Amino acid sequence: MTVPALPAAAGAPSPMGKGTLSRQLVLRTTALVALVTVGLSLFTALAIFQILQNQLDEQLQAAASRPPWRTGTGTGSGGTGGGPADPSGAGLIRMDLINGTWWLNLPDGVTKDAAADLVSVAGARPSTVTVEGAGLYRVMLTASGDSTRLVGLPYSGVTGPMTNVVVMAALLTSGAILISFVAARRVVEQSLRPLTRLAATATQVSNLPLESGEGHVPIRVAPGDANPASEVGRVGLAFNHMLDNVEHALAARHHSETKVRQFVADASHELRNPLASIRGYAELTRRGSEELPEDAAHALGRIEAESERMSVLVQDLLLLARLDSEPTLDIRPTDLTEIVLNAVSDARAASPEHSWTLDLPEEPVTALADAHGLHQVVANLLANARTHTPAGTRVQTSLRSEDGWAVISVTDNGPGVPSEIQGSVFERFTRADVSRVRKAGGSSTGLGLAIVSAVVHAHGGQVALDSEPGRTTFSFRVPLA
Ligand SMILES: Nc1ncnc2c1ncn2[C@@H]1O[C@H](COP(=O)(O)OP(=O)(O)O)[C@@H](O)[C@H]1O
Ligand SMILES: [Mg+2]
Repeated sequence: MTVPALPAAAGAPSPMGKGTLSRQLVLRTTALVALVTVGLSLFTALAIFQILQNQLDEQLQAAASRPPWRTGTGTGSGGTGGGPADPSGAGLIRMDLINGTWWLNLPDGVTKDAAADLVSVAGARPSTVTVEGAGLYRVMLTASGDSTRLVGLPYSGVTGPMTNVVVMAALLTSGAILISFVAARRVVEQSLRPLTRLAATATQVSNLPLESGEGHVPIRVAPGDANPASEVGRVGLAFNHMLDNVEHALAARHHSETKVRQFVADASHELRNPLASIRGYAELTRRGSEELPEDAAHALGRIEAESERMSVLVQDLLLLARLDSEPTLDIRPTDLTEIVLNAVSDARAASPEHSWTLDLPEEPVTALADAHGLHQVVANLLANARTHTPAGTRVQTSLRSEDGWAVISVTDNGPGVPSEIQGSVFERFTRADVSRVRKAGGSSTGLGLAIVSAVVHAHGGQVALDSEPGRTTFSFRVPLA
């Protein structure tokens, strides 16, 4: 029999593990904050850039509208600046074309050739150009009457402050993102902690052995986590209601089961006396009358056989009822070798057509067991190997000790337990096609293996079935003494 394995306890994922709600909330919040701060910083930087450039252009306009002064060296195509310090600030380029002569006022680093190139690229509106050897310049060409003037101011008036603005914005943005990440993480972890506790409670409940016992579910979500004011609290509250409901249902089931068991026990008990009477009177009739008519003798035989069968059934039911209520087993160190030997020799006597073999260890195996109960267990398994297999089947019974357990197994090479009942064969009244058993001369109640299971479990042991056509092994283990 394959016992369904418990689902592997899912390890709780780390709070910020992949796929967790916490991680998603934190990442999304941080991403949103990052988007907003980066957007704001960009907008601010752009606005400041615009203001700075406008300021520079205003200075350029002012420089362009100042009256010309011819302090520079006038040449046909240009000259070097030799005038006084320029009032418009350091780095001013100023070139006046007066009567066909360029008057140049050039700052250090700006060559005549570089200045001459500017005339072709500068326009009436301020534009940004690269001046060879002096970097970026904002330049502008104005013409009034017969004079033309080119002015230029270093663009560092814009790029210098902008560099500071960008560095500042980058620092602020990263800081904001970092702070929002840390804060979001804290808040999310704190808000979802009750959910983690709820999951732990659910795991505890799922590990409770609810199939047996009175259906008491002793676990509840703590009142603090079942406060309907919050969403998570509502889940906790609903969870507690669900557990109440489950407990109610289990208790009701346990109650009705107890009633049914009590009824079966009472009924079996009450049936014992009339059954004993029937068998007694049948025996009396057979003894008293020398010559019974053939059909009466047959009927009498049937009465005896059926009442015998019913007695066995009633005995089994009573035994099960007793094992259910308070197992009254006399558990003490018991030599299992003797039990197995006796049971196999009984089976051999009952069915010489089967071949019975024994596999016993050299040393005695002493287990903590009730001798009478274990004898019944082995006898039931051997009776099954006898009644559910055809004549000539080999049945091997073996006893061994293994890791603190005494293990007894009964293996036959018969047709095997039908696969449709393998999962429930240890439950009460589970049996295969009854006609097959009748043919073999046995009686089938479907209680034999239920008794095996109940007695073995009352010993704190386990039962198992491994069956396929041609090889069926029933085995059970009880603790060694
Ligand atoms: N050794 C076996 N080989 C084949 N089938 C078996 C064997 N032992 C038990 N079974 C199947 O398991 C069913 C339940 O067995 P059991 O609980 O002892 O009830 P019963 O023997 O009264 O039918 C049987 O009816 C039979 O179909
Ligand atoms: Mg049986």
